Amino acid sequence: MRSLPLALALLFGLSGPVGGQELRGHGGPVRALAATADGTLLLSGSFDTSLIAWRPGEAAALRVLRGHDGGVNALALDPSGQHALSGGEDGRLILWDLEAATPRFRLELAAKVVAVAVHPSRASAAAGTGDGAIHLLDLATGERRAKLLLEGARPTALLFLPEEGELLVADHLGGLWSVEDEPARLRERRPATGFAITDLALASPRTLALSAIDGTIRLLVLPGLELRGELVGHEAPVLALSVAPGGGRLASGDLKGRIVLWSLPEGRAERVLEPHAGPVWDLAFAGPRPTLWSAGNDAVVRRWAEGEPEVSPSLAASNAPSAAEESERGARLFRSCRACHTLEADGGNRAGPTLFRLFGRPAGSVPGYPYSEALARSGIVWTEETVDRLFALGPETFTPGSKMPLQRMPDAGDRAALIAYLKRVTAPGGGAGEKGG
Ligand code: HEC
Repeated sequence: MRSLPLALALLFGLSGPVGGQELRGHGGPVRALAATADGTLLLSGSFDTSLIAWRPGEAAALRVLRGHDGGVNALALDPSGQHALSGGEDGRLILWDLEAATPRFRLELAAKVVAVAVHPSRASAAAGTGDGAIHLLDLATGERRAKLLLEGARPTALLFLPEEGELLVADHLGGLWSVEDEPARLRERRPATGFAITDLALASPRTLALSAIDGTIRLLVLPGLELRGELVGHEAPVLALSVAPGGGRLASGDLKGRIVLWSLPEGRAERVLEPHAGPVWDLAFAGPRPTLWSAGNDAVVRRWAEGEPEVSPSLAASNAPSAAEESERGARLFRSCRACHTLEADGGNRAGPTLFRLFGRPAGSVPGYPYSEALARSGIVWTEETVDRLFALGPETFTPGSKMPLQRMPDAGDRAALIAYLKRVTAPGGGAGEKGG
């Protein structure tokens, strides 16, 4: 591929409304995503300090993982899809057992965690922190094997090259490093360019893609890292890259909310999507048919898949309300709860318990649902007043220690509409009772 600067006029012609689904559940910007290759599990991490494990096909949240005291900045899944590593603003690194939804180990680091990576085959991982350190970890024991310092620079992205097992580190001055094992040390691979690198991805087994704040994606040949081409089409810093399983297509997302899908063999933009209001913080492609998930500053995770009809995102979710319900304010507000709560007696529990017969029920009383101690022992009975306070103050204040992610509704009119809707549809025979959740 040659160097391929691209005309923006072409891009605008390709832009259009976005099909697919939206996953609502976070109470703040979604900062990180990870998906299993088969696309059955998607993990998101948010500024609201929680992680959510999704079953994407059903737009349902399976579990909420709480363990950080600050926003979640970085996520990686292990090759089995059973564990995830998360790093936060709080300097905490957590290895999660996703089945049990509990931490296997935690490490407290001296500065915020900005990037994590898991080795594609060995039980090892790496994390980069805001104080310029790279931490090498043994995933089986949770031990830190080594700590290396970037002289004067801060790491921004990490990538294990699957064939060599080599770890690449990008920094905020545009430099690129690799980590050598035994003894562990950093070797400079490309000197700083002045443009902070924001993400790294393997575009093909021999091509490294790197995104930067100058809006350009550079393609470098491995192992020598010679420049092979540039993908130009963003008008803002590019924040995230993801390569489709099997290669061939690269997605990039930027600070102004633009996502570009690139055909790698042809070296050109195929499509532009603008599904989010504000920055796209992360992207994750997953199979089987190429499906792209994007994490937005707008607290929503959205999906794009090839060949899908272009429907409005809210109606695409399998559990979307009917058009009549949608026109009601309370029903519309309940869209941000649906991923985690059903309304029916037999609707089952998702990440949260069913809300069937909520009013008059003591907190933490749905049989079989694994409540947090904090909620189960709160002594709260759900009434119009207590539900109102839950969303006026937010769960982290009204029910501290609860697993529910930060959800707040500052507008009293919104809360009244949501409560009126919930009173109607959670009552036995109250409207939602017969429908599937
Ligand atoms: C990302 C998932 C998620 C979202 C979104 C969510 N919740 Fe929850 N909710 C939970 C979890 C998890 C719990 C259980 C908390 C615990 O055990 O500490 C819960 C508990 C509750 C409870 C207490 C139930 C009981 O049996 O005591 C109510 C009421 C509730 N949620 C209402 C809502 C409403 C209304 C919304 C939307 C505005 C909402 N939730 C959004 C996950 C969520």
